[in-house]
Amino acid sequence: MRSLWLDTLDCSTIPTSDLPIGISYDIAVVGAGLTGLATAVMLARSGRRVIVLEARTVGAAATGNTTAKLTLLQGTRLSELRSRHGLDTARAYFKANAAAQHWLLEMCEEAGVPVQRRPASTYATTEDGAERVREEWRTARELGLDAEFAQTSELPFPISGAVILEDQAQFDPLDVLAALARELHAHGGILVEGARLTAAGRKGPFTLTTTLGEVRADRLVLATGSTVLDRSGHPERTVPHRSYAMTYRVPAGAWVPHGMHISADGPDRTLRSVPSGDEELLLVGGGDHVTGRDESPVRRIQEIDEWARDLLPEAERTHTWAAQDYHSASGLPLVGALPGSDGTLVAATGFAKWGMTNGVAAALAMTGLLEGQAPAWHPALQEGSGLRALASGAAMTASVAAHLAGGWAQAELHELPSSPPPEGTGSVGRAEGRPVAISTVEGRTCALSAVCPHLGGVLRWNDAELSWDCPLHGSRFASDGTRLEGPALSDLRTVPAPGVAAPPGGLG
Ligand code: FES
Repeated sequence: MRSLWLDTLDCSTIPTSDLPIGISYDIAVVGAGLTGLATAVMLARSGRRVIVLEARTVGAAATGNTTAKLTLLQGTRLSELRSRHGLDTARAYFKANAAAQHWLLEMCEEAGVPVQRRPASTYATTEDGAERVREEWRTARELGLDAEFAQTSELPFPISGAVILEDQAQFDPLDVLAALARELHAHGGILVEGARLTAAGRKGPFTLTTTLGEVRADRLVLATGSTVLDRSGHPERTVPHRSYAMTYRVPAGAWVPHGMHISADGPDRTLRSVPSGDEELLLVGGGDHVTGRDESPVRRIQEIDEWARDLLPEAERTHTWAAQDYHSASGLPLVGALPGSDGTLVAATGFAKWGMTNGVAAALAMTGLLEGQAPAWHPALQEGSGLRALASGAAMTASVAAHLAGGWAQAELHELPSSPPPEGTGSVGRAEGRPVAISTVEGRTCALSAVCPHLGGVLRWNDAELSWDCPLHGSRFASDGTRLEGPALSDLRTVPAPGVAAPPGGLG
């Protein structure tokens, strides 16, 4: 599965470098998604010597797999935050997102990135949903947004209500990342792909260990989706969610949405259009679930596809992809300095699927913290994300503990199959007293430790993406054990298993 954005990216538009030897930087940024590159550009604009280290390729994780909606109307988030944290915190969240939207639109205009200005809407199809939508409309108005409540919409099915905010924006997120990478390069910044961070000290000046070599930097920014250093405590305070998106080519003259729509009730769906040459594709998304805890992600994709084909029977699917997003216990982003770092190490996560604005807001906050002047809205958000999160954080911990115990018990109960699994399948069983993950993909059978190298969760097979996913904090691995994303820092170990040939060079 590969997103439309990554599939149509011209890599030559992104300037990258080999890892420089013997140079010390003011700031190292880990992660070349929107948060990391925006932070790097902000710091480079103020004259800092910046290096960006990306484990895979630019935009490979959340940003390259988003639906790319830059909007201040975000489902029913404003009213949910108001209800949980009060109006002042909801206002701080709104101000942070408005500042981020302004910054990104300005950058896009200066760099010539194509942006489509579109209305955003949150719609409902039930009476309960309509009441939530109405509450969102009231909160948006309270915060000064010129939102409207409507009983009808352009959608080709009946709705019970919608809140609409005009003049929001959508774009191709890789266009944005490429523009940021070029601006970073123009300011003398360095972007290195394929450099995975494997170790860092507690506080600056840092000597970072990466898979390509060492990097020295006075200060460090972690913009990695899930914060990759355990001492952050972020993986334990967030829940990883996966969801899917697809684009469709539709017959000439067929309906595609002008606006950007998201449901307030079930089924969870998001819709927008995507300009592509002379045509407009339809983008449909949904299927939200906690990573590694779903019986069959492929079934979720089928449900979205059936729903899209009910709307447009002649639509032809062009791309299918998945995104991982992190939700904090408080519902607010977690952004700030890590304990014990004396302010030299800052990190951000928990954007709850609204990373186009929250990622840039985090970049503004982290830049402000490193330069000694955090934005005025930052303290209120961090107070809300810390103090009021304790109760839901405890529930998260209990759920993680249950999945930890359940995973080991399940592995204990099942023997590994004596012959390789069928193509495209994987299973976990016991071999020599330990959980082993075995799968066959493209004719290659791999037997791996099924124990997540982060904190020992037992992995589960993802039948949609043919990957091993951890139900605890969302680390993911390819079928050959290569780390893909999440808080784990290393690959899965190859282990001996009945009927599986040892890899060349012996066992890992
Ligand atoms: Fe934490 Fe797997 S991601 S144990």
